[in-house]
Amino acid sequence: MKNNKIKPIIAIDGYSSTGKSSYAKMLAKEFGWIHIDTGAMYRAVTLYAIENFYKNNTIDELALLAHLNDIHLDFKLNSDSNTNEIYLNGKNVENRIRAFDISEHVSWVAKIPEVREYLVKQQRNIGKKGGIVMDGRDIGTVVFPNADLKFFITASIEERAKRRFTEYKNKHKNISLEEVQENLKQRDYIDGSRSVSPLTQAADAILIDNTHLSKEETYNKMVQIVKDKFQI
Ligand code: DC
Repeated sequence: MKNNKIKPIIAIDGYSSTGKSSYAKMLAKEFGWIHIDTGAMYRAVTLYAIENFYKNNTIDELALLAHLNDIHLDFKLNSDSNTNEIYLNGKNVENRIRAFDISEHVSWVAKIPEVREYLVKQQRNIGKKGGIVMDGRDIGTVVFPNADLKFFITASIEERAKRRFTEYKNKHKNISLEEVQENLKQRDYIDGSRSVSPLTQAADAILIDNTHLSKEETYNKMVQIVKDKFQI
């Protein structure tokens, strides 16, 4: 159901591995809006840092900050899948940024205030005209506090670890369920406790806990909320 007349800003925030990005992508497709995965932007910056400023198991923060302006991010539509994919300095990195080495470092990069400032500015620019479904951690609280509709998605840590583990397993990653759960826990902690725009539910966000909901049930619930809200 394409709807090009209504151009809302829809914010989807929540914990890692709750399916936020998938739901955002599906909603955008269904209603003819644009999907922006802001986690992909933090992941792409992390990839750039690992490729260029990684020594002795750490990212050189000062070097990264000195070169922030060299990081150019774009989203381009993949016409086969009809979904947006992220490009880092002209190169498609949509798959590369999902690897575990990026997940291990991304929360650390995402808590650097200058990195957030750099990306939030771009996110506001991309979304300001509306007709957008943007997912992340601070969309409804910081990027677009006046978004037309806000969701906050959560699920138990055990359920999220299981889902992410299955995803890694399908990609033949040699990693245990315990490692995946530990990484999620660490990211929850870093994302939720950082000083700049920590992960938190906006007061006016609709909470969806999908621990006991299937993907389809979660999505149907969200679609109904969107339809009711915009009378479409
Ligand atoms: O959604 P994701 O797992 O791809 O996000 C990757 C990391 O980026 C996550 O650990 C938190 C961070 N992030 C953020 O701090 N703010 C956002 N708007 C999006 C993601």
